[in-house]
Amino acid sequence: MENTFIMIKPDGVKRGLAGELISRIEKKGFKIVQAKLFQPDRTLVEEHYKEHKDKPFFDKLVNYILEGPVMAMEVEGEAAIEIMRKMIGDKDPKLAKPGTIRGDFANTMNKNVIHGSDSIESTNRELDLWF
Ligand code: CDP
Ligand code: MG
Repeated sequence: MENTFIMIKPDGVKRGLAGELISRIEKKGFKIVQAKLFQPDRTLVEEHYKEHKDKPFFDKLVNYILEGPVMAMEVEGEAAIEIMRKMIGDKDPKLAKPGTIRGDFANTMNKNVIHGSDSIESTNRELDLWF
């Protein structure tokens, strides 16, 4: 069994997509073992995205995540990290395939509905940070 950190971003929560996204995760056979809907603070969001702190989009990204509550989740299942990344789809809306979450629900890179950890190391780091 593998665990991964998934976050429904503020645009996903605001648009009422949380139920649909949780449903997709559950229908895939994954289990949500922890979840909380809350407003993170700047320190937490900056730490979460610290790998991007020198990128030109960093400030905009952090401010976007601070726009409203997020749904933070720990998701469990075989190969959950890789499979959830596939289900989430590419961050570039032109590359995100229909059938993926971003392919179906996002049309911009700035507001792309959901986050998923990309490795075991980032999962452990992010789960420690958010829970
Ligand atoms: O989220 P993912 O791991 O797929 O992509 P990332 O490259 O780690 O970037 C993290 C997040 O930063 C993306 O999901 C976008 O919300 C944002 N981003 C952006 O706004 N503009 C970019 N050029 C790249 C990323
Ligand atoms: Mg990433």
